[in-house]
Order: sequence, then C-alpha cells, then structure tokens
Amino acid sequence: MEPVKIGLLGLGTVGGGTVSVLTRNANEIARRAGRGIKITHAAAIDYDPDLIQGLDQIEKISDDAFVVVEDPDVDIVIELIGGYSPARELVLKAIENGKHVVTANKALIALHGNEIFAAAQAMGVTVAFEAGVAGGIPIIKAVREGLAANQIEWIAGIINGTGNYILTEMRDKGRDFEDVLKEAQALGYAEADPTFDVEGIDAAHKLTILGSIAFGMPLQFDKTYTEGIGKIEQQDVLYAGELGYRIKHLGITRKTEAGVEQRVHPTLIPERRLIANVDGVMNAVLVNSDAVGPTLYYGAGAGAEPTASAVVADLVDIVRALTTDPENRVPHLAFQPDALADIKILPMEETETAYYLRIHAIDKPGVLADITEILGDSGISIEAILQKEPAEDAKHVPIIFLTQRIKEKNMNDAITKIESLDAIDGEVMRIRMETLG
Ligand code: HSE
Repeated sequence: MEPVKIGLLGLGTVGGGTVSVLTRNANEIARRAGRGIKITHAAAIDYDPDLIQGLDQIEKISDDAFVVVEDPDVDIVIELIGGYSPARELVLKAIENGKHVVTANKALIALHGNEIFAAAQAMGVTVAFEAGVAGGIPIIKAVREGLAANQIEWIAGIINGTGNYILTEMRDKGRDFEDVLKEAQALGYAEADPTFDVEGIDAAHKLTILGSIAFGMPLQFDKTYTEGIGKIEQQDVLYAGELGYRIKHLGITRKTEAGVEQRVHPTLIPERRLIANVDGVMNAVLVNSDAVGPTLYYGAGAGAEPTASAVVADLVDIVRALTTDPENRVPHLAFQPDALADIKILPMEETETAYYLRIHAIDKPGVLADITEILGDSGISIEAILQKEPAEDAKHVPIIFLTQRIKEKNMNDAITKIESLDAIDGEVMRIRMETLG
C-alpha cells in the first residue's frame, strides 16, 4: 500500500523532533499503523538542517504554509507553528480541503477548538491534539478512551513544565524567580511568550481541553480562572514546607452539583502525595474517577521528542482509522458531538477550596483574636496556625493559617476585613490548598 502523505507545518523544536522520530522509528511505526508514513511536503522559514535527522527525506520544503494545506497530494497536515493566527486559518483550510489534522497547539484548540471541531465534523475528518496537553504524556487518550467507563470526578495536573521548574528551583536551591525563568527559556521549555508560562495561561489552555474531554462540554477558555506563580515568595515555599506541604502550580477541574470548577493557581498540596514530588520540568496529571479511583500520569511535558511522541501517536491513530466510517471515529471532545452538555463553569467566587494565608501583624495582645474572629464570622474553620519569631527590628510578625475548605467568596470577604485591621501590614498572601485525597 502507498505510504500516507504528510504535510508538516513548522520545523522548529517539535517539528524537527517529529521528523527525527518518524525517520528513526519508521519501520516500527509502519508496523503499528499498517502503512508507511511519509512527510512529502513541509513548510518552514527558519530552521536548522543540522539538527533534524531525516530532513533529506522530505520531498519539498516551501516557505508558505498555505501551499502545503493546498497540496492535493497531502493526506494529513501536522500543524506545529503555534499561536492563534495563521494557525487557525491554516487548520480550517486543511479541513476544508478534506485533510485530517494533527496539532500540538493548545492555545488554538482551547480558543478555537469548537469552531475547528464543527468544521472537521462537517467534512468527516479528524483533528487530533494529544501533543497539546502535557507534551509526551498520553493524557488525552487516557481520559477520552482509557477512562471511558468512568464518571470523572476531578483532574489536577502539573501541566506547565516551566512553572514547575521555577517552583522546584526556588524550593530546592532558594533561587530567585527571574533567574530560574531565564534558565528555563534557555533550555527551550518556555513558551515563545514566557508570560504564558508564569501567568498560567499555557496551563489554562491545557486545563480547558482536559475539562471538556472529562465532562463532555464545549471548550470555554474564557471561563477558566487563571492565576500565575509570580507572587510566590521564598518565605511561602519555606512555611509550606514546615507545615508538610509543597507549593505546585496546579490546573484543577472538578465536577460539583452546582457546575464545574475550572481553575489554575499555585496550590499547597501535602508533600506525601506522589504528585507533590513531581519536580523540575516534568508534568503529571492525577485523575479521580468513580470506577477506577485515582490514576496518575507522569512524564515529560515539553521538549522536541517527547512532544513528537504524542504527535506521531496521533498520526498512527489517524492512519489506522483512515478506512473507517467517519461517523464512528473517536469523537474530538471524547463525547459524541450531539451529546455535549451545556454544563455551567462556576465563577471563581463559587468554587470551594482550603487556604494557606500569610498575614503580617503587629506583635501585640488581641491581634490573633481579631483575625480568628473575622475568620469565624465568615464560617472559616482554622486547621493550623504557625507564628514565626519577628525578624530583628521588625515591627510585624508573619502568622500563617491553614484553613478548611470554604467558598472563595467567604475567603475574599474575610481577607478584605483582615486587611483593614490597623494591626495588619500590607496584603494577606493567599495560596489555595488541596489535599487531593
Ligand atoms: N511551555 C510549556 C511548558 C511547553 O513549559 O510546559 C509545553 O506546552
């Protein structure tokens, strides 16, 4: 049988990795797919030929990606350009031309996935995006297919390697935020715009996708609460450690009776949890489902060949399915398109979690009582209190509270009242906390 012909858009880190993996493992991949897979046409402007093993096997390289999606010989387009535009236009054009699409572009899927999947559905083609979430970890396939028997209750993931690397280095080596970020950029893990990593936008893209395939609802990136790691200080990392917790930048999606919580923020988690020990650039996703219970997926969330591993797995899936009835292919968002539900994503104020609070207060009688009274009046139950010795000459002492679960709205009210006390200095530092039990 003729090999399947691939058009590859982008020969950067992941594009180069994809060419290398497809070349090196060509025989094994063909045995799995049932057919050979050949990149016949690529598009790239700026690439390093010396870094890409197998580049000479590509018949044609154009500098205009639209030429590739218009190439009648191409069966499947792999989009590895990234960003919203022209990626969206290229993918829609490929679909219009009846081509299947594989993409690693989480931003594109999180923001334009509903439109893209509707177009693909109408044309009877597949759009696969495993590489978009947690790089090389096959988490989309695990949730969409491996856990298809279950009601998924919640997912919590470390889904940004750059952020995890920064927090790990701050904890282990006491390094500064900016210094570590520069290193992550040099290592090639950070997004083109590193604010996407540190502000949680990259993780929110991925979480939006996970929430949709977990609960069968359209993609709603704009309703995903997003908070970055920029405010975490060395002292919070230390205090959390003293109390038996680690601070991780988590994406959490949880189904409740009122709706779905979908939130990305720094989170204290007990250090005894496996996921609390996922360090450096590694990613991990913990899925809690009703039948199987918790399952944990760990691996490289970024990098050339780990991400290429997911791209090529999607390719193999599509090649295997090329002859099957389009109506019976695995649905894009795990649930059949006409079975997607209009489930409410809760505003952040309505979500419920436990909290770490760091409050700087004047060391005098009655201050602690005032704070605990405010917490009590807001229905907030305290789990632990830690008061540190004042630094020499310091007028204020840090007091750390761990609270039990409460609605964000109650905590916001309490924080406003605490901050207005005369004895309190500056803002209350709040980090959300999850036991993930
Ligand atoms: N910037 C991302 C990360 C790359 O650091 O995890 C993979 O999406």
